Amino acid sequence: MRRRTTKAQGIDRVLFSEAELHTMVERLAGEIAETYRDIGEPPVLLGVLNGSVLFISDLMRALPIPCDVDFVAVQSYQGERSTGDARLRLQPKIPLTGRHVLVVEDILDTGVTLRYLCSEFLPQQKPASIRVCTLLDKPSRRRPGVFAADYTGAEVPDVFVVGYGLDLNEEYRDLPYIGVLRAPEHKE
Ligand code: XMP
Ligand code: MG
Repeated sequence: MRRRTTKAQGIDRVLFSEAELHTMVERLAGEIAETYRDIGEPPVLLGVLNGSVLFISDLMRALPIPCDVDFVAVQSYQGERSTGDARLRLQPKIPLTGRHVLVVEDILDTGVTLRYLCSEFLPQQKPASIRVCTLLDKPSRRRPGVFAADYTGAEVPDVFVVGYGLDLNEEYRDLPYIGVLRAPEHKE
């Protein structure tokens, strides 16, 4: 298996190691299973591309109950628009009407992406329920009025994190851990 050193990768510090991520995913899978076991129907895990790919693939393997899996892609615009805006770039293939949908995100930041999915796009599909599972949460960045996730792996401070699916300009997604980048002037 390929291993990279943090030094070679320009990572300043590891926030969550592979082992810590594993423990986090197992805990989340247990919490999620409790909810949907009681409901008695398999949820549709709806991964938000591309950041959630490693997380959702570990999560569905850790889930002790059956589930279906599909994906959406959302493009968010936050630059100069103070309210933030988002739109769908990829539709799910599974019909979501009447299904219990669990949105799976890599990180809940301003909340613009999830607000769009959970308040606009998904309600139009008339699912039986909508819940959100995010690996990471940056509550300090949340826009006013945006909800919390139903299941959260861990909170992170207001730093840019990469690895385990999260990228900086498409780099670092393949790291097995989550780290904080070294300041640009110190990057090798
Ligand atoms: P919000 O909640 O602001 O999040 O709609 C939009 C998307 O932004 C990405 N994001 C990050 N990606 N490190 C990353 O690699 C970060 O620290 C980070 N913060 C936000 C992420 O894809 C999220 O879904
Ligand atoms: Mg994302």
